[in-house]
Amino acid sequence: MSDDIEQMITTFRAGLRGKPNYAYNLAGLAEVVAHKKVPLRALEVAREALAAAGDDPRAATRARRLMAGLIPGYHVPMMNDARRNETWDRALRRAIRPGMHVLEIGTGAGMLALMAARAGATVTTCDTQPVVAQLARELVVRNGLAERITVLTRSSRELQPADLPRPADLLFCDIFGDNLFDFEPLPLIADAQARLLASGAPVLPRAVSLQVALGWSPDLRNTVRDTCGFDLSPMRDFVSAAHILRIGDPDIRLLSQPQQAFRFDFTGSSQRGEIELGLQAEQDCEVNGAIYWIKLELDDENVLEARPEPGLRFFSSPSFAPFAVPQTLKAGDAVRIGVAHRGKVLETWIAGHG
Ligand SMILES: C[S@@+](CC[C@H](N)C(=O)[O-])C[C@H]1O[C@@H](n2cnc3c(N)ncnc32)[C@H](O)[C@@H]1O
Repeated sequence: MSDDIEQMITTFRAGLRGKPNYAYNLAGLAEVVAHKKVPLRALEVAREALAAAGDDPRAATRARRLMAGLIPGYHVPMMNDARRNETWDRALRRAIRPGMHVLEIGTGAGMLALMAARAGATVTTCDTQPVVAQLARELVVRNGLAERITVLTRSSRELQPADLPRPADLLFCDIFGDNLFDFEPLPLIADAQARLLASGAPVLPRAVSLQVALGWSPDLRNTVRDTCGFDLSPMRDFVSAAHILRIGDPDIRLLSQPQQAFRFDFTGSSQRGEIELGLQAEQDCEVNGAIYWIKLELDDENVLEARPEPGLRFFSSPSFAPFAVPQTLKAGDAVRIGVAHRGKVLETWIAGHG
């Protein structure tokens, strides 16, 4: 961190101390530090503001607002998702034998690493984001597992074999975003397999896939209608190619059985690139898009799937790819859906009928 920023913090803090609204203004200083792109120092100042806030809820709110902005929003829902946590805990206990050394890519706040250590492993883990890696270190200490878990603030690509006590006996990771490819998990896992694992070491999940179905969603983002007597049709080309849905939204309808678009099996073969799926309407219906979601096969018993169901809560969300023109189908009619992934980007389209 630059001396200039440290100097700024010292000067501001000295100017604020003893004055009204000290904690509130200290939280403001944390915001300025965050804008300077030194998130760990911003975290320290925000925590100082929080400690000074006492019974001033306005100051505490300002400090917490800044702190929440220092980490991606998905970490809190992930750690509160009981179905996900229990499934991972079962799979890790099943895979880990005492004395194993295991590697994780993307520890976030460290939840899965804590589970792996509790199951008897020693763990090397990493995250590119300095604030979540710092939180993981703190939570590891708080849970008495500092002897068993090493958290490195680094991309897995930058880990060297010497960062591990020996090649890892197992790799585990949850680096599968809503569209599967957001964190580019396939090259990251292949890289770790090639450089950091013992020969034949398994990967958890053992396979991941994308599931695709025909669907209906009344979401206002899906199309542009001509309204109030105006021709707005040129705006249809600006409709987003896909957007995230709420998994438990009762208005989403699945109108075909899902099919697997891609399955990546970390023990062997994988489908890549581009495929076509024949999806068959299960009833007379209007479909206005394809719904897709991730499925993680942790092992042969423990599977996590973000299939939409009314009322369901789950940290991962399905996506909806609207069709340019909604389709009116009879039960049994088939629509061919093309699905392709290019790096992080996933695209779907109507490839034909029948
Ligand atoms: C979806 S979160 C999972 C967090 C945690 N493992 C859990 O399951 O609760 C994925 C994490 O992977 C991290 N990540 C993404 N690419 C990475 C890479 N190349 N090396 C290390 N961490 C990475 C992100 O910063 C993020 O914190």
